[in-house]
Amino acid sequence: MVMLRNSPERYGIISQTLHWIIVVFVSIQFVVGSIAADLPLGMQRLILLSRHKSIGMTIFILMILRLLWRLSNQVPLLPAGMSSHEQRLARLIHWLFYILLLCIPVAGWINSSASNLTVSWFGIFNWPDLVEPDKYIATIAKGTHKILVWTLLAIISLHTMAALRHHFILKNNILIRMIPGFKGKTGKETIL
Ligand code: HEM
Ligand code: HEM
Repeated sequence: MVMLRNSPERYGIISQTLHWIIVVFVSIQFVVGSIAADLPLGMQRLILLSRHKSIGMTIFILMILRLLWRLSNQVPLLPAGMSSHEQRLARLIHWLFYILLLCIPVAGWINSSASNLTVSWFGIFNWPDLVEPDKYIATIAKGTHKILVWTLLAIISLHTMAALRHHFILKNNILIRMIPGFKGKTGKETIL
C-alpha cells in the first residue's frame, strides 16, 4: 500500500517524491548556472539564465510545499546505533537544506530584479520585481547567491556520503526508506 505520510519507520511517498525531484532540479541548476555564468553577455547566456531562473523558482515553490509538509508530518526516527551527536548533525544538515534552498532562489531573484531583469516562469507569467534596479544590490545578491550555492554543494557532498555510508557500510535502511516502492527491512532492529 502506498503511504502518503511519513511514519516513524520510513518516509511517505510525498516526502520521497519531493526529495528526489528536488535532487534532480538542483543538479540541473548547478550545471546550467555554471555554464551560463561563464558565457559572454549575449542571447545564449540570456536564454540559459532564463531557464535557470524558471527551474530555480520551481525549486523555491517546491521547497515551500516541502517545508509545510515536513512541519505537518512526523519525521522517521534515526537508527539507534547513531550517537546523539551524529543525529543532531544529520538534523542540522536537513534544516540547512531548507534554509539554503529557500535563500538561494531569493538571492537570485533579488539579483535579477536589481539588474532590471524581470523573472519569468517559463514565459507563462512574471514574478514581481523584489527591488528597484540598483547596481550595488545586484552585486551583493550575485555574490550571496554564489557563496550559498557553493555552501550547498559542500553540504550535499557530506549528506550523500553519509547516506551511502549508512547503506553500504553500516547496512541499515536509511537510504531504502527514502526510495519510493522499496520496502527494505522492517527496520525494527535498526530504528529506535
Ligand atoms: C536552488 C536553486 C538554484 C541553484 C542551485 C542555483 C545555482 C547557480 C549556480 C551554480 C550559478 C553559477 C554561479 C557562478 O559560478 O557564478 C548560478 C548563477 C546564477 N543564478 Fe542561480 N541557482 C538557483 C536559483 C536561481 C534563481 C531562482 C535565480 C533567479 C530568479 C537565479 C539566478 C542566477 C543568475 C542571474 C546567475 C548568474 C550570475 C552571474 O551573473 O554570474 N538562480 N546559479
Ligand atoms: C540536492 C541534493 C539533496 C538535498 C537538497 C537533500 C535534502 C534532504 C533533506 C532536507 C532531507 C530530510 C528529509 C526531508 O525533510 O525531506 C533528506 C533526507 C535524506 N536524503 Fe537527501 N538530499 C539531497 C541529496 C541526496 C542524495 C544524493 C542521497 C543519496 C545518495 C540522499 C539521501 C537521503 C536519505 C537517505 C535521507 C533520509 C535520512 C533520514 O532517514 O533521516 N539525499 N535529504
